[in-house]
Amino acid sequence: MSGAIVTVEDLRIHFPTQDRRETVKAVDGISFSVQPGETFGVIGESGSGKSTLGRAVVCLLKPTGGRVLHGDIDPYALPAAALRQRRRAFQIIFQDPNASLNPRMSMLDSIREPLDIAGGGSRAERDAIALEMLERVGLSADFAGRYPHELSGGQKQRINIARVLTVRPRLIVCDEVVAALDVSIRADILNLFADLQRDFGLTYLFITHDLGVVSHVSSRIAVMYLGRFMELGTAEDLAERPLHPYTQALLSAEPIPLPAAMRRDRRIILQGEIPSPTDPPSGCRFRTRCPYAQEICATSDPTWREAAPGRFVACHFAGDVTGHPVTNQPHKEAIA
Ligand SMILES: Nc1ncnc2c1ncn2[C@@H]1O[C@H](COP(=O)(O)OP(=O)(O)O)[C@@H](O)[C@H]1O
Ligand code: SF4
Ligand SMILES: [Mg+2]
Repeated sequence: MSGAIVTVEDLRIHFPTQDRRETVKAVDGISFSVQPGETFGVIGESGSGKSTLGRAVVCLLKPTGGRVLHGDIDPYALPAAALRQRRRAFQIIFQDPNASLNPRMSMLDSIREPLDIAGGGSRAERDAIALEMLERVGLSADFAGRYPHELSGGQKQRINIARVLTVRPRLIVCDEVVAALDVSIRADILNLFADLQRDFGLTYLFITHDLGVVSHVSSRIAVMYLGRFMELGTAEDLAERPLHPYTQALLSAEPIPLPAAMRRDRRIILQGEIPSPTDPPSGCRFRTRCPYAQEICATSDPTWREAAPGRFVACHFAGDVTGHPVTNQPHKEAIA
């Protein structure tokens, strides 16, 4: 037993396309584990499979291949009632603050709803827990009787956080939780997540396309591209010594306000769009956009290897082409 809260082993989530002729390989062979109390960040462009991964981690999607362990238990090996019970400890919050809120339910009823579904305790006890959580997310008791249309996006997201807290989760998947909010209030919500993590001993899987967000909250970061992880390491390692060309391109494209160590002097412009997950490129799936691609990249799929303790990467030339850890500069001809 590893002591991990979640262990993901060679996970694959495939969907049939609408005409059922092809397969969307949204997640296509990912392995990692999340340790208690950490914030594990997943960064990647839209369409790279982040939300699919997050939903699989909380058992909203059944693996096509591989498995997700909660602790050392495979939830899908449990009887249905035990699976439901187990799932409560693994919650998810979505980008759209309205997604989980019924417009006709008061905020108190919305916050209490997961407890009503779980059962147990009297109505008064469940109301008391809901009120406590309302306060814990920084909203006064006045909000208990209000309805979603009376709240701002940030306030609604606070209600969503209170909802999942009622069932005392161990891990929360945060899927682009600040992306729909005004830039001015994002920091407040991120700080709230940090406070709650400390108070409740929470573990987060923090999914975002925004490097500025993930770099502020995460202890480790995985870089995802077309259904796979390209690189995984501590936030500091990735910032200072990105080993994978895709990580380096993401970092270089990021304007302020990245922490100083994460800023790059020169931009690496990625050519073209992310390819279709129904037909990922042969060999390395990043090769169609990689400034360093060689012949071998088209024929051989780079293995996911531990380049240094705790530091994983999938690139035939990682470190050589990005210059890390040897130097800080990539090849000049590859820089736009
Ligand atoms: N239920 C589904 N049926 C078919 N395709 C899906 C489904 N969910 C996601 N996809 C596809 O899987 C890919 C990854 O999607 P998603 O996980 O939402 O990526 P991200 O969250 O990184 O933007 C996309 O091409 C998306 O269209
Ligand atoms: S394996 Fe080749 S194409 Fe893929 S990231 Fe490394 S250098 Fe680029
Ligand atoms: Mg998504």
